[in-house]
Amino acid sequence: MKGIYRDGYYDGSIELRDIFNRRCVKCGRGDFVQAKTMRIRTGIVFWNLIFSLMFTCVKGFIHTCGGTLKGRNGTIESPGFPYGYPNGANCTWVIVAEEGNRIHIVFQSFAVEEEYDFLSLYDGHPHPANFRTRLTGFTIPPPVTSSGSIFSLRLTSDFAVSAHGFKVAYEELRSSSCGNPGIPPKGILNGTQFSLGDKIRYRCVTGYVLDGHSLLTCVTNAASVAVWDFPVPICRVTSPFRLHG
Ligand SMILES: *[C@@H]1O[C@H](CO)[C@@H](O)[C@H](O)[C@H]1NC(C)=O
Ligand SMILES: *[C@@H]1O[C@H](CO)[C@@H](O)[C@H](O)[C@H]1NC(C)=O
Ligand SMILES: *[C@@H]1O[C@H](CO)[C@@H](O)[C@H](O)[C@H]1NC(C)=O
Repeated sequence: MKGIYRDGYYDGSIELRDIFNRRCVKCGRGDFVQAKTMRIRTGIVFWNLIFSLMFTCVKGFIHTCGGTLKGRNGTIESPGFPYGYPNGANCTWVIVAEEGNRIHIVFQSFAVEEEYDFLSLYDGHPHPANFRTRLTGFTIPPPVTSSGSIFSLRLTSDFAVSAHGFKVAYEELRSSSCGNPGIPPKGILNGTQFSLGDKIRYRCVTGYVLDGHSLLTCVTNAASVAVWDFPVPICRVTSPFRLHG
């Protein structure tokens, strides 16, 4: 804390921290997210703490989540989406496709308190051996395709602060479909068919250059499953060091 007391009032600013003494650059709540180091007058900090505690207590009551999902397609939302998931959550969704099909998921929204709350993906049942990746933060992750007919998602949150959560669309992929591979940031996708033999083309918005292959073709791999022949390219900022004339 920096600042001085004058006539009984605290004059200056302090770094805003949550009840676990985490600096609020890490806190997921919308009002904290923007600033790098929030400096706020003590009175405001006090009321923020009170509201934060009330918010936590109220949200603590919503707790049913997760489940087993079957069907060609559908969506999954974190509990309370988009108003925030509960603290202390441990929600597991298991998507079960028809034997021989795979599951393709596309994130539509993603905001999870960075480095404290996580969405873990499992290529199969939610066992450590099937662990695929752990997502956190405020960037929409790229689409994911399972290798088998079961795919699981597990949301775990800690005991303070949440964010608006996530929404994901899933669909079953037949062995002859590659699925929509998604659009990288600043990219443009030309193509709407994602089955065997289909080709799609990527380019970037003005000011960005493509890194990778612009043309992807849906082919069969050694296991007779449809896959894209190259990974999705990325778009890089055009070099700022390029000089004119
Ligand atoms: C989901 O499946 C239904 C029924 O097959 C279909 O009408 C709908 O377009 C599908 N939605 C998506 C997003 O694929
Ligand atoms: C979440 O629940 C699963 C199954 O009930 C359990 O195995 C796992 O350890 C839990 N994770 C956390 C972080 O509590
Ligand atoms: C998309 O691809 C098709 C065929 O490959 C081409 O005719 C069309 O001009 C492309 N559109 C854009 C916007 O690049």
